[in-house]
Amino acid sequence: MAAVGSAVGLGNVWRFPYICYENGGGAFLIPYFVALFTAGVPLLILEFTVGHWARSSPPEAFKKIGKKWEWVGWWTVLIPFVVAAYYVSVMAWCFSYMLYSLDLRWGANAEQFFFKTFLGMTNSPEIIGGLRVPIVLGLIVVWMCIFVILYKGVKRIGKVVALTVPIPLILLIILTIRGLTLPGAMEGISYYLTPDFSKLANANVWLAAYGQVFFSLSLAQGIMITYASFLKKKSDITNNAIITALADAGTSFLAGFTVFSVIGYLTVSQGFGIDQLSISGPGLTFVTYPTAISLLPFAATFFGMIFYVALLTFGIDSAFSMIEPITSGLHGKWKMSKAKATGIMCIIGFFASLIFATGSGIHWLDIIDHHIASFGLVLIGLVECIVLGWMYKIYKLREHANKTSDVLLGRWWDFLIKFAIPFVLIIILILAIVENITKPYGGYSWYIILLGGVIPVVGIFLLSFVLMKIKGKEEGV
Ligand code: PHE
Repeated sequence: MAAVGSAVGLGNVWRFPYICYENGGGAFLIPYFVALFTAGVPLLILEFTVGHWARSSPPEAFKKIGKKWEWVGWWTVLIPFVVAAYYVSVMAWCFSYMLYSLDLRWGANAEQFFFKTFLGMTNSPEIIGGLRVPIVLGLIVVWMCIFVILYKGVKRIGKVVALTVPIPLILLIILTIRGLTLPGAMEGISYYLTPDFSKLANANVWLAAYGQVFFSLSLAQGIMITYASFLKKKSDITNNAIITALADAGTSFLAGFTVFSVIGYLTVSQGFGIDQLSISGPGLTFVTYPTAISLLPFAATFFGMIFYVALLTFGIDSAFSMIEPITSGLHGKWKMSKAKATGIMCIIGFFASLIFATGSGIHWLDIIDHHIASFGLVLIGLVECIVLGWMYKIYKLREHANKTSDVLLGRWWDFLIKFAIPFVLIIILILAIVENITKPYGGYSWYIILLGGVIPVVGIFLLSFVLMKIKGKEEGV
């Protein structure tokens, strides 16, 4: 349940629709499902197996694979911490929008309201702009929730996810039914489901698909390893992994209907074509949805509220899952108490989130998300395959999974982890790097990409070595 909670989140309802929209609508579903089955599911099984086998936090788990690999574990737990900084800021937007739904505060022009009035968006990332008070307040609320849920340890997580997994799903179903019954919904859906095959020749589309699968399944971030370490000895590993992956993909697919039906309604009622939507990127759900809500013939406030409550409840279990691995790591290595580790990380996280609460926040969010979620995660996924597949005897992990699982893994799984996945990831990475060098992401200047993309990815990589080198408590210091 907690793994499903971590996987299903804003990634499904906020990120998936705009990534899908930017990468060719229906055409994106093909690379997405290819990535899900060729890399997502096998890697999820791998991470569950490693966690269940090592019964420890990711750094210790990789240390068990080989002493010199401990840094890989640190690398995986540091990445979601960076993701958390901007993820929580999107939750803070949701928090404000939940309140704004009460009086449909965005008025007639939701785009103007979101970018100018709410975000105070500056023209470029270099112009930082001031802090936005409503966003800062939202950040405080969300970080406090994360702290309260995590500081007592894993038992409380179990209780929280029993609510935060089913509730948003029910809300999403209600919203989808409402969306699909609106005039114009079918225009949106047909855009969502009609493939444009020419997009498939673009490496960035494939990188976005693999990145989205990694992001959405919370892969390559130490989370699934940490959660699986709490599983009972006899738990069925492959089944758990397959259920988690299908629940996640199913929610994304459903959320596509929710969001695209509303986009269809919006474009039809305002009289323009769906591909002429002036807004894309992370703001999509914050402009299209409110506009459509205002146009609703009845119960607009109600549907507005439940959309943002759904986003918040979807998001919270993903958000705390990003902090749990690093606190487990600190607890494992330096015997730091759970409460202390959680407190420290939430405070650092809060300050790190502040950059996203400024006028330039959405620029930085877009740049960091593109580099961390696409390059960072895919790179770590590759390193995991290499370390676990080549530096360790992968068949031992397969046998470990098979001992307790109904669906048995064959040699094909070893082949996927050792050859097929690394091969595909390397090709995609090379092509996408070349593409990104020749045409910098989003038209930003090279030093912005360096600052928001390259430095965080490389910085985290180096920091993981530093953490490995510092002696742990049990090592006598
Ligand atoms: N999987 C989560 C989602 O789809 C996001 C997430 C990313 C969670 C990284 C944990 C780590 O929203």
